Amino acid sequence: MTNYKELIANMTLEEKASLMSGENFWNTKQIDRLRIPSIMLTDGPHGLRKQGGKADHLGLNKSIPATCFPTAATLANSWDLDLIQEVGSYLGKEAASEQVSVLLGPGLNIKRNPLCGRNFEYFSEDPYLTGKLAANMVKGIQSHGIAACPKHYAVNSQEHMRMTIDEVVDERALREIYLEGFRYAVEEGKPKTIMTSYNKVNGEYANENHHLMQDILYGEWDFQGVAVTDWGGNNDRVEGLKAGNQLEMPSTGGITDKEIVEAVQTGELQVEVLDEAVERMLQLIFETTNALQNTEKVDYEEHHQKAIEAARKSIVLLKNDKATLPLKKEQKVAIIGDFAENPRYQGAGSSLINPTKLDNALDALQATDLAIIGYEQGFKRFGGKSESLKKRALKLAQEADVVLLFLGLDEGSEAEGIDRADMKLRDNQLELVKELANVHDHIVVVLSGGSAIEMPFAEDVQAIVHGYLGGQGGATAIRDVLLGDYNPSGKLAETYALKYEDIPSAPYYPGLEATSEHRESIYIGYRYFDTKKVPVLFPFGHGLSYTEFAYSDLRVSEQSATFTIRNIGEVAGEEVAQLYIKPTNASVFRANKELKGFIKVHLEPGESKEVKIELDDHAFSYYNSFHHCWSIETGSYEIQVGSSIDDIRLSAVVEVQGDDTEHHYNKEALKPYYQADVHHIGDEAFHQLLGWTPPNPLWDRKAKLGYNDTIAQGKYKKGFGKLLYIVVLLAKKFLFFIRKPLLANNVMFVMNMPFRQIPRFSQGKISEKMVDRVLKLINFW
Ligand code: BGC
Repeated sequence: MTNYKELIANMTLEEKASLMSGENFWNTKQIDRLRIPSIMLTDGPHGLRKQGGKADHLGLNKSIPATCFPTAATLANSWDLDLIQEVGSYLGKEAASEQVSVLLGPGLNIKRNPLCGRNFEYFSEDPYLTGKLAANMVKGIQSHGIAACPKHYAVNSQEHMRMTIDEVVDERALREIYLEGFRYAVEEGKPKTIMTSYNKVNGEYANENHHLMQDILYGEWDFQGVAVTDWGGNNDRVEGLKAGNQLEMPSTGGITDKEIVEAVQTGELQVEVLDEAVERMLQLIFETTNALQNTEKVDYEEHHQKAIEAARKSIVLLKNDKATLPLKKEQKVAIIGDFAENPRYQGAGSSLINPTKLDNALDALQATDLAIIGYEQGFKRFGGKSESLKKRALKLAQEADVVLLFLGLDEGSEAEGIDRADMKLRDNQLELVKELANVHDHIVVVLSGGSAIEMPFAEDVQAIVHGYLGGQGGATAIRDVLLGDYNPSGKLAETYALKYEDIPSAPYYPGLEATSEHRESIYIGYRYFDTKKVPVLFPFGHGLSYTEFAYSDLRVSEQSATFTIRNIGEVAGEEVAQLYIKPTNASVFRANKELKGFIKVHLEPGESKEVKIELDDHAFSYYNSFHHCWSIETGSYEIQVGSSIDDIRLSAVVEVQGDDTEHHYNKEALKPYYQADVHHIGDEAFHQLLGWTPPNPLWDRKAKLGYNDTIAQGKYKKGFGKLLYIVVLLAKKFLFFIRKPLLANNVMFVMNMPFRQIPRFSQGKISEKMVDRVLKLINFW
């Protein structure tokens, strides 16, 4: 860190405090007297959302055109570290060219449950994969001298009540699942900033949580940058600052700066703490401002091509019976489904990009020499019956040799601020595919959507291609895969369960009122399915290719695994080889196996390559929450290498000498955890695992509402509180009804916003006095 001590010595207390919060929605304050410039922070994470006019954090108002790359859920399927770094670099270049100092991304929360409304913005259910990808994205963005901002630290697992929910999670799951990705991102990516999440973690708001911030982020991981609140995610400003949250965004109209000044004057806050925060801010401001002196001009066409390439490498071929794909030139092709004409290519909310251009599959396919015999919309995008659309689609299908059926999740189903209600596609799409399958036996389903869905049609169709949310060039990438111009190489970064009820967190998700209990602990995604041997639709790491790969010659040690992969098919292709470690004689409960390495290799037909995967110092360990350390149990560990978690091709055993730190995991008391019986975790086992008794998960319905409560709690009030709640709820429902999901989300934001945020968010336009009056009125009944 450059020494800014002299500059700090020249600053008044008010000037120092002024750097601790925004000037407006996107910028920090400048101090002319000391030539300290203002810097801009902007979303993120898969494109630049720089707003020129009206500002908001939910994607309501337009931003300047920028390249919309595939979202994180999509890019993760590439398992391609170089690609992710390159995409990061393209993002960084666009941000720098627009004088943006901090790009708010990547998003790397763990997909605890497929219904989380923001899963499309996150990488995976697995922390190792998440962390490696995020670290590379950070490196790419920061290669332009600006800052990346990994978010949302930590355990931001649900959108429902995201500003107040208390995520109750045992220390082992916290470390092994929810923080591990952030650890890689911080230690390897070295981000200049990090964003704390809105929610509480084990009773304390994330940005005030000393354990998360001081012990782990600054202590263990040696984070050198600036921690910024999520927009409006500050609770007690002084406590946040003490915990190490330097920058509060957006502006609060100076309200919280004054609180900082007062806290120093009364001795509640040591000036040294403020000085350190100022030093970190100055470092960020000057470093990024310098980098913005010489930026390169962006060639948006080149960036569009990179977006296509990124989407191509991320498409997953889920099923391909009887070599239905690639399409053959002489086949008569029918294109059916609204998503062919109107691509669903990104999610909704603060990540909403205004793309520089937008490809659609219909145009892309029509521009080829395929024998396309027609296009039918097939169904209404937002649900509802239409016999005529269906009939026309069925008629067209009957005349075709192969049907390309474009299905997906619409814009209203996945959005920031709201979790999904179920894991299903809309009924009208399911009905159509069922009826098509009755009359046709060459159906290729092409999916779009940012998170896992149930596929009751999987058996009835011949091929399934998942493009996820492919960004502005996603449709062209799909065309390339359908035609065989690109051999698909994506692999799922999340498990596809047969049905929602199978999901390990299903009985506990989302937390509805005060807390969200993570009773399933470490058993997220494949860690549950693979351990409990529950059948799935498509396993973690699954993805087909138009060629085949053979694995041989595995040699292992504690440090690495070496093996050979050979392309035994007719066409060139890329394989993602995955390495899992299976403890064979663990005395603590553990997942059957865990991902600890992967590599993506390109092979020409007949070509073979020897590859090596290095194992890091967390490869064999678990987190011992009694002694608060990572620990290795001495014993045999199987190293398994394969093409997916369910397709292990090679395995070998290594004997590992561990530290055998004593632990208190008791097989009897924690029986359901030892048996991965996570759907039935009673209070006793969960409290035993936590080591403490969690608070009531429901709101205290009789308590008077205060600053940390929300309009949503008016539900249990009489009189004004109830009225306010009903009005906001009706507004949300109405906006959804008239197909304005983004506005509806904004309304939900208001519903779930703690009263304390109202004066700050309105920059003092609604005063604390006014809020006091509203609360008085609510509490009157
Ligand atoms: C989101 C963040 C985003 C911020 C600014 C918040 O609502 O949670 O991910 O970066 O807004 O738009």
